[in-house]
Parts: sequence; structure tokens; C-alpha cells
Amino acid sequence: MHAELTLSPDERAHGERVLAEVRAAITAAGGAIPFAQFMALALYAPGLGYYSAGARKFGPDGDFTTAPEMSALFGRCVARQCCEVLATTGGAILEFGAGTGALAQTVLETLAALDALPARYLILEVSAELRARQQQRLAALAPALAGRVAWLDRLPEAPFSGVMLANEVLDALPCERFVVRAGRARRLGVALDGHSGGLREVELGGPATGGPDATGAGVPGLPADLDLAALPEGYRGECCPALAPWIATLGATLERGLVLAIDYGLPRSALYLPDRRDGTLLCHFRHRAHDDALRNVGLQDITAWVDFTAVAEAAVDAGLDVAGFSTQAAFLLALGIETDVARESDTALRAARAGEARRLLMPNEMGEIFKAIALARDLDAPLSGFALQDLRRQL
Ligand SMILES: C[S@@+](CC[C@H](N)C(=O)[O-])C[C@H]1O[C@@H](n2cnc3c(N)ncnc32)[C@H](O)[C@@H]1O
Repeated sequence: MHAELTLSPDERAHGERVLAEVRAAITAAGGAIPFAQFMALALYAPGLGYYSAGARKFGPDGDFTTAPEMSALFGRCVARQCCEVLATTGGAILEFGAGTGALAQTVLETLAALDALPARYLILEVSAELRARQQQRLAALAPALAGRVAWLDRLPEAPFSGVMLANEVLDALPCERFVVRAGRARRLGVALDGHSGGLREVELGGPATGGPDATGAGVPGLPADLDLAALPEGYRGECCPALAPWIATLGATLERGLVLAIDYGLPRSALYLPDRRDGTLLCHFRHRAHDDALRNVGLQDITAWVDFTAVAEAAVDAGLDVAGFSTQAAFLLALGIETDVARESDTALRAARAGEARRLLMPNEMGEIFKAIALARDLDAPLSGFALQDLRRQL
């Protein structure tokens, strides 16, 4: 992939600044940093990382399109699920990583039409740049909607009741990479490439990093029950040590209600398969997907598929019930996406909506690889989104 050839001078300069930050971290660490530290810098280094700085990211001019960006049909279904829960719990909606604010807008507009607006719509966003975009977009809504939106710097200290939403947030948490050598997992890291002046992948603790692994011998976040012996020599995979602590903080805050997370991923038994020997790490740069995270540093998105078994385990540890797990297609169909399309009276618009629904639902697009998971506490509300399909036994 030669997308780096098309970088503008500004992009090149920005990429160099991010690289300088990564190089400094590598030097400070004595020659190599774990992949998760690299990914955290590339995506979230203040003022520099892909999500922290000004890259366009979303939409046709950006690097990727998420479901709420692609179609309001997605947010309408999510809103109806929120409506059921809020009818029982009251309280607020708290959205994590709200992107451009597209989901927040659709959810608020749909709940207003259902006369079911929550008292507050809170957003917790780590990117200052995206927070500014969300503020601009949502300030343009009717005052009755815009007035309910507030941004948080951290999770609320008081117990929270209502719905927590996270669409494509879990896959953006920094992950570790590992390689299987003689039936054991070795942690992968990033070092300087003396020849090109760029970066290269290294196995931490190996001779390439100049001696013992200063970062610890194990792979943080590696599932204890992963059968490494069943994976071929040289198999590479990812795991996310940030996932369990993140869910634990949500669990500590949620008094009553639902965490609804939607993301691409699989149950563990289907994620770490011998055939998937290069893992699931994916970079998005101008709507091209590739697996070289060490290029276009700070200018491209880096993600890895979510281990939904790890999500469920973390939820149980946090005292939450795994109340539903299904494909995105089943979730949206159960919440009436087809009725929304059929209700469109204008023929051209109906055709456009039908096309959007296909992308959201088709197995070879977003329908199958994206999953919805419901984590609940003290909740006796119906969860219609999970009524069509129950994949929890796969977790
Ligand atoms: C792939 S984007 C998805 C954006 C949006 N939810 C959507 O579907 O269009 C990932 C988002 O998660 C945010 N994010 C990453 N880590 C986060 C965290 N720990 N807490 C809250 N937001 C986070 C990013 O800044 C970004 O807004």
C-alpha cells in the first residue's frame, strides 16, 4: 500500500512530529516499547495522536465510516433500546467516544420524537479535537435537546442510572501484540529501524532489544485460558489489557441500567484461530485498510477486533450481568430497522435508506462481524435488541 506517497506537506510534517514523540519514548525505554504503548502514543498523544490532533478521520474525506456516520437508521435503533431501559431506570445516557456526535444527535432526536428524552446526555471523549466537533454539532440542535448535553472529563463520581453507550470504542483501546514461539507467547514491541530511520517490530526480551525484557516477561492482557499450543509457530495476535480495567470502572459507576457496547469482534474461541495467523490488527487510512501500524504514524487509525469473551469476563468480575450478545444485524432487525426503511415515503429516499440498511445488515459488510453486547445491573427492562438472537453461549 502506497498511501503514504499521497501525504500532503502538512501531513508529512505532522507525521514527523508524532514519530519524534515515539522515538523519544523508545530511547527513554532503552531501545523498545511495547506495542500497546506505541498504539497509545500514535492514537492519543496529546495534541499529536491520530484521535487527539486534527485529522479528518470520519466520513468520505476521512479514513473510515462508522455505523452512526453512515446512517441515522443505526442511531434510531439504538435510541429505541435506550428508550426501553430509561423507562425503567430513568436517569441519563452516557456516551463514550462520541466521534463527530452523529449517534448523540440521532439518539436525542429519536427520543424526542418518542417523548422519552433523558434528563441528561453526557459524553466522555478523550480527544479534545473530537469534543470540539461534537460541541459544534450538538449546539445546533433544538435548545430542548442541546441543553441536555454535557461533556465529562471523567466518569461521574455519583452512582449512575441509565444507559452507557460505546460504539467502536473498545477496538480503539490500545492493544498488545504477541507472537507464538515454541508454544509460548512473546510480547511484541516497537524499536527504531537504524536503516530507514523509521520504526520496526521487535520481540521484546529477544536479542534485538539488547537483553532482558525490561517491560516484563509476560504479555499483559493475554487470556489465561488461551491454548497457545494449538496455535502455529509464528502466529501473531492481539489482546487488550486496557479492556478489563475500563469495564471495571463502568461497573463501579453503574448503579442501575445498561452498558451497550457495539464493536467488531468475536468470542474468544473464534478469535484466536490457527488460520488467522496474523491477528486482527487493522489500520484505516483514507478508506484503505491494511495491517502496517508502523506507517503513517499519527495519521491513520489503528484497531484490533474485540475479544467479547474478555468483555463478558470483565463484566462478570465487575458484578454486571451479561444480558445479551448478538450480531449487529440481529440487534438492528430486532429494533425495527426494516420498518424505518419502509416508513420512508419518498421513493428515492427509501432506496437510499435501503442501501444503508444493507451495509449495516449484510454479513459481508457490518452485519455479522459487528456485535452488540448488553451488560446490565439491577435491570428488569425488556431488551428488545437481543430478542431475535442470543449468542451468549458462545462467549
Ligand atoms: C472509532 S472512533 C468511534 C467514534 C463513534 N463512537 C462512532 O461510532 O462514530 C473511537 C472513539 O473512541 C474515543 N475513545 C478512545 N478511547 C476512549 C476512552 N478510553 N474513553 C472514551 N472515549 C475513547 C476516540 O476518541 C473516538 O472518539
